[in-house]
Amino acid sequence: MNPIESCAKLLDPVKVGDFTLDNRVVLAPMTRSKASEGRLANGLIADYYAQRASAGLIITEATSVSPQGNGWVGAPGIYNDEQAESWRQVVNSVHAKGGRIFLQLWHMGRASHSDFHDGALPVAPSAVRLNGDGVHTPNGKKDHEIPRALETGELAGVVADYVSAAERAREAGFDGVEIHSANGYLLDQFLQSRTNERDDNYGGSIENRFRLLREVVEGISTAIGASRVGVRLSPNGVYNDMGSDDYRKTFTYAAAELDKFDLAFLHVMDGLAFGFHEKGEPMTLQDFRAVYSGTLIGNCGYEQETAEAAVSSGAADLIAIGRPYLANPDLVERFRNNWPLAPLPEMDTWYAAGDSPAGYTEYPNYDPATAAAAEGQS
Ligand SMILES: Cc1cc2nc3c(=O)[nH]c(=O)nc-3n(C[C@H](O)[C@H](O)[C@H](O)COP(=O)(O)O)c2cc1C
Repeated sequence: MNPIESCAKLLDPVKVGDFTLDNRVVLAPMTRSKASEGRLANGLIADYYAQRASAGLIITEATSVSPQGNGWVGAPGIYNDEQAESWRQVVNSVHAKGGRIFLQLWHMGRASHSDFHDGALPVAPSAVRLNGDGVHTPNGKKDHEIPRALETGELAGVVADYVSAAERAREAGFDGVEIHSANGYLLDQFLQSRTNERDDNYGGSIENRFRLLREVVEGISTAIGASRVGVRLSPNGVYNDMGSDDYRKTFTYAAAELDKFDLAFLHVMDGLAFGFHEKGEPMTLQDFRAVYSGTLIGNCGYEQETAEAAVSSGAADLIAIGRPYLANPDLVERFRNNWPLAPLPEMDTWYAAGDSPAGYTEYPNYDPATAAAAEGQS
C-alpha cells in the first residue's frame, strides 16, 4: 500500500487474512495471570475477553506451547487437550459478541527458571544469562540462571510443539494464532545476535538466526493456513535484556522473509513506550512497509489520535492497544463517541494471580447517564 494514498480510519472495517474486522483497533496481547490450576483458561478469562470483544481483533495473553515454555505463574497453556478444551468457553464468549480472537503462542526460553521445570535449567539458543531483576517463580522471586543451550537435535521438537499448539488452538475455535517472536522470549532470543551465539545452522548469520522462526511459521502455516497466522516482532525493545547492534539488518531481513508467507499480519512493536534499547534510531513502521507488503499492525504507546494518524497516513493498517484496555473494556465505543478514558490502574493489579475479578473484569463500560449524574453532583 502506498502510505500517501491511504485515507482509512481507525474505526473503519479492514480485511485481515480471511476476515473482515469491524475496526482497526486490536487488543494487544497482555498476560494477566488468571489461569486456573493446570494452566487452564476459565470463566473469568472468558468474561474478560468478552468485555473487550468490540475490538476489531483480540490477541490473547501469551500462552505456553509446551511445559518447557512455561515460566510465568498463572499464565495459561495450550499443550494438552484439557487446556485446549478450557479455551473453548473463551472463544465462544467472544464469538457470541461478534468478536475475533487469535491466541498468542509462547515459549519463554531463558526468561524462565528451573523452579518451573523440576530443577532443570530453562533453555535458550545459548548459555547467555538474562541480566534482569529476577523471575517470579511459584517459590518467590529468584535470580535469573544461566540457561541450557538447546541441542540442534532438539529444535525439531520445539517446532513441533508450536505446530501442535496452533492445531489445538484451531480445534478450540480460535480464528488464528499470533506467534510471539518479541520481547526477548525464545524465538526473539534465536533471532537476535545478543542472545544467539550458536555455531550450527540456527546461529551465526542472520539467515541462520531466523531459521527457527521460519520453521515455526512454515509448520504452523502448513497446519492451519497462513491467513490465520500472525507474527509479533519487537525491533526496538529492551524488555528481557534485549537489543542487538545489528537490529536493523536482522529485523529488515526477518520482515522481508515473512512477507513471502502471505500471513494474516505482521505485528510490530514500533513505539518506544515498552522500553527502547537505544542502539540507534528506532525502527519505524515505514521501515517495515518498505520490505513488507502485507497487513501491518503497529503498537506501543498509541492513543486514539496517534493511532488514527498512523492508520490514515497508511503507516499501519491496524493499531494494537494494550494498557488503555486494562480499565476500558469498551475502548472502541469510547473512541467512537469521544468519551473519556478511565485512568491506568495501579501496576500491582496488572499481573495479580488468582480468581478475583477485582482489577480484572470489574471495570465498567462508560455510561453517559451515570457520568452526567456524577457531574451534576459535583
Ligand atoms: C500487563 C501487560 C501484560 C503484557 N503481556 C504481554 C504478552 O503476554 N505478550 C506480548 O506480546 N506482550 C505483552 N505485553 C506488551 C503489550 O502487548 C504491549 O506491547 C505494551 O503494553 C505496549 O502497548 P501499550 O502502550 O498500548 O500498552 C504486556 C503488557 C502489559 C502492560
